[in-house]
Amino acid sequence: MPRVLAVTPYLRVTSHPYRDVLESAGLEVVFPAEGANLADPAVLIGQLHGIDAVIASTERYTPEVLAASRLRVISRTGVGYDAIDVPAATRRGVVVVITAGTNHHSVAESAIALLLGVYRGLPWRHYEVHTGRWTRRALPRLMGKTIGLVGLGRIGRAMVPRCQGLGLKVIAHDPLADAAFAASSGVRLCSLDELLAEADVVSLHLPACAENVDLINARTLGRMKRGSVLINTSRGALVDEDALVDALRSGHLMAAGLDVFKIEPLPLDSPLLKLDNVLMLPHIAGLDQESQEATAILAAQSIADLYQGRWPSECVVNGQLRGEWRW
Ligand SMILES: NC(=O)c1ccc[n+]([C@@H]2O[C@H](COP(=O)([O-])OP(=O)(O)OC[C@H]3O[C@@H](n4cnc5c(N)ncnc54)[C@H](O)[C@@H]3O)[C@@H](O)[C@H]2O)c1
Repeated sequence: MPRVLAVTPYLRVTSHPYRDVLESAGLEVVFPAEGANLADPAVLIGQLHGIDAVIASTERYTPEVLAASRLRVISRTGVGYDAIDVPAATRRGVVVVITAGTNHHSVAESAIALLLGVYRGLPWRHYEVHTGRWTRRALPRLMGKTIGLVGLGRIGRAMVPRCQGLGLKVIAHDPLADAAFAASSGVRLCSLDELLAEADVVSLHLPACAENVDLINARTLGRMKRGSVLINTSRGALVDEDALVDALRSGHLMAAGLDVFKIEPLPLDSPLLKLDNVLMLPHIAGLDQESQEATAILAAQSIADLYQGRWPSECVVNGQLRGEWRW
């Protein structure tokens, strides 16, 4: 019986609908050894021994890991797949699937929470109540400001009605934007430079593929308005953190709201932890109870589909394998 390694921590349960999906399709569910450090490629290779498909978290599937395994499918619980070397997986005939459509509401809610949090000064005002030092310093109002969404895919589009409900004007940059959606939603599409120059808030909703690494750097931060805000619920790799710290320290940026970091968990000596104008979350934006449930089931369903000869087009990243691929 083919074996599915369920890596994502919340899948380590004895009874759950995701298990029913796999087991009723004739697949066995197994877990990594307790405490196994899958960030270590040698450990990951060991845990993949005898495994046909994996429900993956953020561990890295490098060419070496792929070459040492007999994997047929990598099913990511989530939509970011920057930890998987997709070209290498494709060369080896490994289908990569994501759980498209399960977590965009959760991420959008988290991005809005970070935005409201920094605009209303929650990081330091909360601290002031704890310490009894009430400065009661006024901050700008959010209503009437302009938000620039970099990336207008599932999450970017889910941001639009939420931002408009808060009285924000929405502009967006995305080379592959759905122009009909933008027009019907009142979102003006523009270049990245225009967006940076015009937006009071820049919110990132694009993937961390190689060409997007450090998209937000000293130059692009310099183009942002003085007193503007950066929200990143996408990936830490998109932002040069040293340049961000400089911009936050100098006051060029009013604040930042961050769910993701270059290194996770964020090292405890990070200068970001010394700033009171940053509100941070532990890479949790995509995870609410509803998305967790839907993600677990869809990640399993895609594996079951592939095992039973169905092609889950909506979720497949390397669609070029279609037609020739066999379990
Ligand atoms: N923090 C979390 O928990 C969490 C959860 C889910 C997703 N994410 C991140 O959010 C990202 C976006 O997710 P999604 O579901 O909206 O993906 P998506 O594929 O639906 O949309 C991404 C959009 O970004 C656009 N894009 C790519 N490069 C760009 C660039 N240089 N400039 C502007 N736009 C660009 C694409 O054309 C696409 O429309 C994911 O790649 C993932 O890294 C984070």
